[in-house]
Amino acid sequence: MRLDKFLCDSKNLSRKESKEIIKKGRVIVNDNKITDPSFSIDESKDTVLLDSNQVKYEKFVYYMLNKPAGVVSATKDNIDKTVIDLFKEEGRDDLFPVGRLDKDTVGLLIVTNDGDLSHHLTSPKHHIEKTYFVKISNPLSDEDIKALESGIKIGDDVCKPAIVNVLSDKEILLTIFEGMFHQVKRMLKAVNNEVLFLKRVSIGDLKLDEKLHEGKYRKLTDKELQILTREGGKT
Ligand code: URA
Repeated sequence: MRLDKFLCDSKNLSRKESKEIIKKGRVIVNDNKITDPSFSIDESKDTVLLDSNQVKYEKFVYYMLNKPAGVVSATKDNIDKTVIDLFKEEGRDDLFPVGRLDKDTVGLLIVTNDGDLSHHLTSPKHHIEKTYFVKISNPLSDEDIKALESGIKIGDDVCKPAIVNVLSDKEILLTIFEGMFHQVKRMLKAVNNEVLFLKRVSIGDLKLDEKLHEGKYRKLTDKELQILTREGGKT
């Protein structure tokens, strides 16, 4: 593995920062000062020091992405740009999105290389709640809200009771407990409404960092990762 990649994966740095640190001579590999960011190391054997402190390789990485519209939640696509294309700078080839948001949906998406965590968060067994900010075409009636909150039928499926929070005539927060295909759009359609804009704002207790502009991402903090792994009783 390249030394700059090792360092940015392990120390929560951007590739650019990692390269600069190496070029400044702050990194020692097995007692040798290395200033070439492309220097190749074996992360399981070599000892790497940054400013005299040993750096341990970070096997798993966890990012919060504010997904923009127009990209698909996949690793590869023949037609559209994917969310993973947004992570090119990271130089990793093992990232994938946890679950899916539609191409036109924006907001919170976790991107990782940890298959266990992904499985845990998407397993129907765990019923992890997801909250969406939704702009709708018509105000919801009391009956509509009751229907959504008592478990509405969409096609052959019956949704778990959702939670509706009315923000204004045409804006709601909708919390759902499963992740069926186009679920929010189909739920609103079932009460003769239409979704005009959809943004996921939280997964369990993990909230989208509103400072992240659409298309931007950052690593999860340790605290956020704890929140995520706790969801559904993983720990
Ligand atoms: N529900 C939808 O309809 N679309 C999404 O992207 C997510 C939830």
